[in-house]
Amino acid sequence: MRRIETAILISGRGSNMAALIEAARAPDYPARIRVVIADRTDAGGLALADAAGVETLTIAPKAVGGRPGFEAALDAALTARAVELICLAGFMRILSADFVGRWRALNIHPSLLPAYKGLNTHARALADGAREHGATVHWVAPELDSGEIVAQARVPVLPGDDPERLAQRVLEAEHALYPAALRAACRRLA
Ligand code: GRF
Repeated sequence: MRRIETAILISGRGSNMAALIEAARAPDYPARIRVVIADRTDAGGLALADAAGVETLTIAPKAVGGRPGFEAALDAALTARAVELICLAGFMRILSADFVGRWRALNIHPSLLPAYKGLNTHARALADGAREHGATVHWVAPELDSGEIVAQARVPVLPGDDPERLAQRVLEAEHALYPAALRAACRRLA
């Protein structure tokens, strides 16, 4: 079986990244996590990736002249490692249309897209009285939180939920969703 060489981009704690790394340990998993790249040195996920034996790299946009420098450095790092697919996992930076046109990328977003694009999705769902919420894995397109949907996980909104409790329930669903969606996406690339 050919494994798709995959990079994970993170900005924070990296719990979805950890779920992907764990899934990719299975011998029949169709992706190999080649490298984890963060845009900040204090991203908690870096230590987790390191402990799991995955190469890590930090590219701080400020250190390389902002977005153009960041994307050039990212391009070089991905090309040098023969990466074929990128997974954005809590990566808090908007990539240019040029970059998105050059690389295949997946993203995980904490809502049932197309509902609640952008930030604070859990609070907004609760404020609307939504009875169902969830998460979406989609192909990255130039417009934020759009792009073809690969898979979704539905999570009920329960009485007494606050944004934190709802976020926790959605996050648990994300940890099963993203590995399954990456598996499905790889089928298309193999
Ligand atoms: C997740 O809720 C994901 O949907 C969103 O950012 C959060 C990242 O969490 N894009 P983690 O860093 O994977 O723990």
